[in-house]
Amino acid sequence: MTELAKIPLAGVIGHPIAHSRSPALHGYWLKRYGLPGHYIPMDVAPQDLEHVLRTLPQMGFVGVNITLPHKEAILSIADIITDRAALIGAANTLIFRKDGKIHADNTDGSGFIANLRQNAPHWDPTAGPAAVLGAGGAARAVVAALVEVGAPEIRIVNRTRPRAEGMRSDFGAKVVVHDWTHVGQMIEGCATLVNTTSLGMTGKPDLVINLDRLDQRCLVTDIVYAPLKTQLLIEAEDRGCTVVDGLGMLLHQAVPGFERWFGKRPVVDEETRQAVLSA
Ligand code: ATR
Repeated sequence: MTELAKIPLAGVIGHPIAHSRSPALHGYWLKRYGLPGHYIPMDVAPQDLEHVLRTLPQMGFVGVNITLPHKEAILSIADIITDRAALIGAANTLIFRKDGKIHADNTDGSGFIANLRQNAPHWDPTAGPAAVLGAGGAARAVVAALVEVGAPEIRIVNRTRPRAEGMRSDFGAKVVVHDWTHVGQMIEGCATLVNTTSLGMTGKPDLVINLDRLDQRCLVTDIVYAPLKTQLLIEAEDRGCTVVDGLGMLLHQAVPGFERWFGKRPVVDEETRQAVLSA
């Protein structure tokens, strides 16, 4: 093997991929720690995904992140799937093993929790129910994580109600589905409120919900990170709640992959946030 081939390569595969912040993040960490390696964005159409994944290890790739629209489809290609990725029904982090097998994991949920633990250290997810807005892929990762950290009840609302009901059978009795029109009542008594819908994102309509029944002790977070402070977070903060923006989830979900591929557990701090925001 030549010296060149020993430099670990990783990257992110999506379609499209130009918007991804992951290259800026991993590139920043590689530079910060002075590590050899490259992290490369790759635009791969669905029909080419399996071929590309089987070819990359031969080129020196040690793994990749997977983003839209491949996060679900990857499960039918990967050889080894972690329990949590199987439960969520999607993966975002692949490891190309030396035996040729592709190992798929989902780190969105652990990234979600790590972000809250870091930015709201007094948050106690066991102190009351969690309210989750939305029932897409991101919601599934968030609900799996909330179950894991001991939320006593998880109340879900979604515009398309059957999608939320599908989650009840997957995640068990703690999950309770409410009607979207009752979201104002649903948040009452909650210890955690999470928006996992795309509402509030730049270019999308705002998320409009009545927060009158929101308890001041409720931690409010949004997986949307552009803008950093969504209308939901602004209003919740006005009511005295602790709020945490979604950028930290993006940063923390990347930690396990970087550590595995490049051999160093990276920190997520203000400098990391700024590096990504200014890229
Ligand atoms: P992701 O995998 O990122 O979660 P997704 O699977 O497309 O993306 O889910 C997006 C979420 O935002 C869904 O809960 C979606 O509601 P539906 O299941 O009814 O589609 C929600 N969402 C998107 N646009 C919305 C809108 N205008 N009003 C309400 N909910 C919306």
